[in-house]
Amino acid sequence: MNKNLRKAVIAGNWKMNKTRAGARELIEELKPLVAGAGCQVVACVPYTNLETALKAAQASNIKIGAQNCHWAGSGAFTGEISGEMLAEMGAGYVIIGHSERRQYFGETDKTVNQRVRAALDAGLTVILCVGELLEQREQDITGEVCAMQTKIALSGVTKQELSRVIIAYEPVWAIGTGKTATAEQAGQACGFIREVVAKLYDKAAAEGLTIQYGGSMNAANAAELLSQPDVDGGLIGGASLKAADFAAIVKAASV
Ligand code: PGA
Repeated sequence: MNKNLRKAVIAGNWKMNKTRAGARELIEELKPLVAGAGCQVVACVPYTNLETALKAAQASNIKIGAQNCHWAGSGAFTGEISGEMLAEMGAGYVIIGHSERRQYFGETDKTVNQRVRAALDAGLTVILCVGELLEQREQDITGEVCAMQTKIALSGVTKQELSRVIIAYEPVWAIGTGKTATAEQAGQACGFIREVVAKLYDKAAAEGLTIQYGGSMNAANAAELLSQPDVDGGLIGGASLKAADFAAIVKAASV
């Protein structure tokens, strides 16, 4: 599989961090550090920071995204935000199916699929998260879990729409734990997901798909993880909150 066929994407997942002032500060600090990046740079920020982040990132190479969106265009869904609302603000990306949403907010493969559909319909690029729990890895069903999550999430997504999908392979046991998958484990799982996509669509679609690794990726381990032929980028949590660390990961993906 030829890495040159796809774009490397380093995306920050700020999670529930930063006030507007903090968001402005972080984007301003980041801008000069990533200005010459040889990869796509994205910051997925809390809804309340979208406007601030979009404004701060104007005329820079940093793209702004959100961390979730609802599956309906509008309606009686108190507390929710639609894809259309995000697109109207100018957000280009949205994370869907993050394991924290699956774990704490009752997200299922079915609702992930519905949200992917809604985000694509709104014109957004989706960062779709899949990944196994520790006990699933121990039971040697990582492949099955990732295949199932990927297949259900992409149900009803056309080959053309797949060009607006990035898959983030995030082993749940590696998220926020400081425990990173080995480069080999990350490469293997990303390669496996690419095979699943090749079977769902075709080889060309799979070869063009950006697949990120996520889970305690940092300035020290990024280069090794990104050197894997099927790892095309990273979804970065903790390390995306520090401009220097995030910029170092961007640099590692720019070679
Ligand atoms: P982490 O988070 O880098 O802090 O492990 C990654 C993620 O949750 O996307």
